[in-house]
Amino acid sequence: METSCDDTSIAILRDGIVLANLITSQWIHKKYGGVVPEVASRLHVESILELYAMCLEQAQVKPEEISAVAVTRGPGLLGSLLVGLSFAKGIALSYNIPLIEVNHLHAHALSLFIEQKPVYPLLCLTVSGGHTQILKIESDFNIHLMGQTLDDAAGEAFDKTGKLFGLDYPCGPMMDQLAKSGKPNFKFPASKVPGYDFSFSGLKTAVLYFLRQQLSLNPSFIEEELPNLCASVQHAIVHMLESKLVQAAKELNVKSIGLAGGVSANSELRSTIMNACCLHGWELYLPALRYCTDNAAMIAHVGYAKYVRKEFSTLSLNAMARYPITQTQ
Ligand code: KG4
Ligand code: ZN
Repeated sequence: METSCDDTSIAILRDGIVLANLITSQWIHKKYGGVVPEVASRLHVESILELYAMCLEQAQVKPEEISAVAVTRGPGLLGSLLVGLSFAKGIALSYNIPLIEVNHLHAHALSLFIEQKPVYPLLCLTVSGGHTQILKIESDFNIHLMGQTLDDAAGEAFDKTGKLFGLDYPCGPMMDQLAKSGKPNFKFPASKVPGYDFSFSGLKTAVLYFLRQQLSLNPSFIEEELPNLCASVQHAIVHMLESKLVQAAKELNVKSIGLAGGVSANSELRSTIMNACCLHGWELYLPALRYCTDNAAMIAHVGYAKYVRKEFSTLSLNAMARYPITQTQ
């Protein structure tokens, strides 16, 4: 079960194979230009029971056949996490089966291997609406955080700049689409952060000031230049991600690369990293598009690995709004 933000998702796996993976996205947040936590948790409550019934039906599984229930413990919105956690506890208690906690970031990273055999060591760039990190993964349960964003996440950079262009939340998919017919002819400075860390808040401010200046000269600037603006911002974000990932792979001498999280659905990021991997002779692992954004199959995937290791939680398990990946091992 996954309810960490604005997607309610339930999946059923048998022996590690996905039988069903249902997701309901809460479109209402578009109206507010971002996720409203109270609304998100209320909508999780409204949809989770029906989603569970639909998931059982699609998987052709009876509730009493389920052997364990895995749920996202964090990181995420506390109210949203609590809905999934309480529901999972209810099922664990009713059917007397183990409860398994999963770190959302751990699940994103291992989503690369839902449908293929894992290859380690692997350098994984997890890029989502809430997180941007480079992980060195030695095995399913031996993960080192090498670098992360110091402020906004890459997905947030798409969402916040997209909002300035008047796009609906979440703006990443739309910017990706619009950028296809544009050219990156506006240059925005890349942030200078040491090591493998990132910073995206400067980009948002640079875009804001640039727009203010251009709009004072031409009030239709955004309408006229939208595809080029999207292509330019996307190029700036992708370039920052690529340069840190390539630097890390070279310095750490890791020859397998992975992309995970919602932003890994971005077409320019995928093609840029693919080219870099071809150039350096590295293997690239990409999750299927349905496993890039938030989904319960990735939670169940880690849950299954923990089930095999008999790593169970008690019913007193709490949700954690902040939950660093390093704390899960
Ligand atoms: O992993 P995810 O579903 O949720 C979090 O854990 O945050 O990621 C959502 C983020 C949003 O910021 C959304 O704008 C971004 O992923 N996103 C994209 C694309 N698809 C989703 N960003 C750029 N290009 C895309 N194609
Ligand atoms: Zn996520």
